[in-house]
Amino acid sequence: MSDTDTPGDLTLTERRWRELAPPEATASAGGLYERVRLWSSGNLPGVDTTYDPRQEHHWHYAALIEDFASWLPEGGASVLDLGPGDGWPSIPLARALPEARVLGVDPSPRRVAVSRANAGRHGVTNASFVAGDGAALPVGDASVDLAVASHALEECADPEAAMRELARVLRPGGVLRVQSQVWALPAEELETVTLTEGVDCLLFTYARRTQEPARERRYVLVLPSDGSVAEAHRDALVETASAPRAYGETSVEGLTAVAILERLAPYATASSFVELRRWTPDWLADALLEAGFREATTTAHPGDAARLAGRGALRASEVAAVASFEAVTRDLGRRVSREAGAGMVVAVR
Ligand SMILES: C[S@@+](CC[C@H](N)C(=O)[O-])C[C@H]1O[C@@H](n2cnc3c(N)ncnc32)[C@H](O)[C@@H]1O
Repeated sequence: MSDTDTPGDLTLTERRWRELAPPEATASAGGLYERVRLWSSGNLPGVDTTYDPRQEHHWHYAALIEDFASWLPEGGASVLDLGPGDGWPSIPLARALPEARVLGVDPSPRRVAVSRANAGRHGVTNASFVAGDGAALPVGDASVDLAVASHALEECADPEAAMRELARVLRPGGVLRVQSQVWALPAEELETVTLTEGVDCLLFTYARRTQEPARERRYVLVLPSDGSVAEAHRDALVETASAPRAYGETSVEGLTAVAILERLAPYATASSFVELRRWTPDWLADALLEAGFREATTTAHPGDAARLAGRGALRASEVAAVASFEAVTRDLGRRVSREAGAGMVVAVR
């Protein structure tokens, strides 16, 4: 399974999972992203919904799109989005850069199909999507002006190989802008579960995150979506509904996860496991230099700045300011991109 595994290193849930539904080691795209109906619960502004200035998380996304767009080098037109999921940032970025051509590359054919459908629905014609792996990009050498990656580089089985590929496809002076999870857990270890509907199946996911070593282990149980299984799945969902949330998932005690697993495992049609390394922006900047980038710097995160500014405007009852917040978030996106910080990374080829 993993080189680092020792029996003492496994949680109770992991041990039971391996007994009750021995998991097959997979890549993250096949294990999870290929199976989910919608990535991000159908909640992405500019992809699933239209931009709404009354919603705090939309400020965050609007600032980020402006940030990504602002790094396109003068005269550049070719943009690559690594791992776009359902088309983010590709689709809103293509709209923000009407002269550019955006190509999203994702190993999951289902995510590619969903991204294409979303672009069509939004009438965006300068974004296209192909199936491919970050570690072998289907793109020529030095042919890309701007590459972006949002929560995708860290999903690659071999992130360093993907970084070398990004260095290969960017032209000299081309820019890579990366948003990745900044690994700072609220506790040394965190266990979460997710009960969702997949494509023609139900899914039960258990994730174990550890601060040190910085990594995430994700187990997925695939279940048929009918009869008593559906009932057991729904009961588990109700049972965990009031538990605290973390990373958009449900934070649980190990025993709760085991109890759900014991009820659902007998019905599983597939069981998978993936282990992903996690990192900080400093680590990422060093790894990008190692992969062949000329410069790599950490910066502030424009999304965080947009949320703070929006909340400030709300507190001051500047309702008019919030209603026209798109312009404010766009401005923040441009400015904050250039400020020092530990939120995102930019690298130049
Ligand atoms: C967490 S989702 C992020 C999606 C989107 N960029 C966003 O921010 O909403 C991770 C995406 O990375 C993709 N992915 C996984 N492994 C990959 C790889 N080796 N190369 C490129 N993309 C990959 C997954 O299929 C998935 O669509």
